Amino acid sequence: MMLELNLTEPNMTTILQINSAARTEAQSTLLANELTAKLQQSHPDATLVVRDLLTNSLPHLDEAALGAFFTPAEQRNAQQQAIIARSDALVAELKAADIIVIGAPMYNFGISSQLKVYFDHVARAGVTFRYTAEGPQGLVTGKKVYVVTARGGKYLGTPADLQTPYLKTFLAFIGLTDVTFIFAEGLNLGEQSKQSGLAAAREAIAAV
Ligand SMILES: Cc1cc2nc3c(=O)[nH]c(=O)nc-3n(C[C@H](O)[C@H](O)[C@H](O)COP(=O)(O)O)c2cc1C
Repeated sequence: MMLELNLTEPNMTTILQINSAARTEAQSTLLANELTAKLQQSHPDATLVVRDLLTNSLPHLDEAALGAFFTPAEQRNAQQQAIIARSDALVAELKAADIIVIGAPMYNFGISSQLKVYFDHVARAGVTFRYTAEGPQGLVTGKKVYVVTARGGKYLGTPADLQTPYLKTFLAFIGLTDVTFIFAEGLNLGEQSKQSGLAAAREAIAAV
């Protein structure tokens, strides 16, 4: 049997940048932008998609959303179909990405509610994960993820860093296991601390 290879087709890369800060002038977004710019240098033909969870805010899960998620497709009413269509679009965007950059501020020891609600809309049984006899299986596979976190204090390696293990666990649950974290810490501990926190993050970005 002959294998047909189309050697003229360019190997297109899609970068999805997810901004999850609750403000426009955010350190996490600034650094995520810098990382994306660095990735664009090594992937000059890459398509960039930016999902800004502040300007395009998503609603909390509620009775209607959960009803939509748990109603079989053929039985969904118009409102439930609209809720699923929004979730499907977010999932399609995620699955189409080869590289995912997440700008993730630490708010109250965890992720922003913007990022949490995004996760709530993309975590779908049978779509982004499924349960097997061996346990849960993530269905969003084969992607490289970078998380750029910005923090006022210094929590890396301490029990109060609830953000890193949460993100690792959630991302792995949906199949995203190749995750690199970049930390900008101590941003609210004075100007010197801020500059050295930003410099450490920028050093990590330069090494990507
Ligand atoms: C609502 C809120 C909660 C915060 N909670 C924490 C925290 O738990 N730990 C911490 O180190 N810094 C905390 N900070 C400081 C932020 O992590 C810091 O300002 C960082 O730059 C936020 O990222 P951003 O600039 O992308 O919004 C908090 C800031 C805000 C606005």
